Amino acid sequence: MINILIIHGPNLNLLGEREREIYGSTTLDELNQMLSQKAQQLNVDAKFFQSNTEGKIIDFIHENRKWAHGILINPGALTHYSYSLRDAIASVSRPTIEVHLSDIHKREPFRKISVIKEVCIDQIVGLGIQSYFKGLEKLVTHLKGMATNEKL
Ligand code: DQA
Repeated sequence: MINILIIHGPNLNLLGEREREIYGSTTLDELNQMLSQKAQQLNVDAKFFQSNTEGKIIDFIHENRKWAHGILINPGALTHYSYSLRDAIASVSRPTIEVHLSDIHKREPFRKISVIKEVCIDQIVGLGIQSYFKGLEKLVTHLKGMATNEKL
């Protein structure tokens, strides 16, 4: 079984309530339920986590590093400045995909920079909650490909 961490960064607990014109009306619980169904369809096991605290997200990644084969993460604003989150992702050496609901490249200048991107295999932006589904599909395809190659 492929195991995946699905992580939401700061302020994403307020999805559905927060700046709905940018982030949409789906709540985090609803999103996680849909992602959980999608994970079942893809035959993978997913563990969900949200925190407003950088260190708690890093701890979660460390604690689950042996269990997880891959990581899907929306780092929220940590995307733009958190070198410690970047280092945590690099440290555990698990394929990671960065996702964003909004198109960070078409917003304020500070959002165009992702310090996380380089340690990820892909960055998916601007598709609303579909960014997560596309990200999950890509991650699972990547991990299944790795599993196949390891058997060869
Ligand atoms: C976000 C974009 C970030 O710039 C912002 O700080 C968020 C949400 C997104 O999903 O579009 O919290 O990651």
